[in-house]
Amino acid sequence: MSAHVERLTTSGTFSLDGGTWGVENNVWLVGDREEVIVIDPAHDAQAVKDAVGERRVRAILLTHGHDDHIGAVRETAELLGAEVWISPADDVLWRRVYGDGYRPDGEIADGSEFAVAGVVLSALATPGHSPGSTCFFIRSGIGAAGLPAQVRDELGADIAAGARADAETAVADGEGEPPGREVAQDGTVPVTGAIPLLFSGDTLFQGGPGATGRSYSSFETIIDSIRDRLFALPDETVVLTGHGEPTTIGQERPHLQEWIDRGE
Ligand SMILES: [Fe+2]
Repeated sequence: MSAHVERLTTSGTFSLDGGTWGVENNVWLVGDREEVIVIDPAHDAQAVKDAVGERRVRAILLTHGHDDHIGAVRETAELLGAEVWISPADDVLWRRVYGDGYRPDGEIADGSEFAVAGVVLSALATPGHSPGSTCFFIRSGIGAAGLPAQVRDELGADIAAGARADAETAVADGEGEPPGREVAQDGTVPVTGAIPLLFSGDTLFQGGPGATGRSYSSFETIIDSIRDRLFALPDETVVLTGHGEPTTIGQERPHLQEWIDRGE
């Protein structure tokens, strides 16, 4: 079975500047049956461990240091025996949660690469929501059938290779092998048409940039990051967000000027 993406949703709180808000976070797993990378294991270490199962964890990657994203990472890392990586530019946020008592294992730089299950996640430094906010881009290696069903449902026709998902469904429904495609012995359809994937953390959501109203955030900086780094990616790039539902670069790109006019 080739590399695929799994989504786990967890609930908890986010606190900063004296306020506390209830939040739901997306935890993303990228991997295969043997190994995974975990992105932002928020709130519930045991739920993340259950999702990982017996697989080897190549790394835990953090998109940024807000407490909803990192508050459970120490316990998760201990449960999984995995290394934790984050941009050093978010150290101020890390220390707000852990002080000096616990440190990350690795520092993510712009261009850092992490390999798992035959795919490579490339780090894009996208400051603004926080100084060290980082997105992870997979250029190739995962097709529509490798996305969670709820992501395929949400994006529908916006997935360039959506027909492949339909083909997979047809096989699952017993309609037989789609033209020109092979069915593996375990019934899965090998997908060769890769879709670019972006794990955007809280930098880009369906409908706009992440929040920049609180400490250590900058609206101008997040707009620069989105314009210069994220909107340089292909339109068909599927954006898997830190909260809420997925989107694509092509869906969001036309709205940049509206966001700038609206302000933070
Ligand atoms: Fe955040």
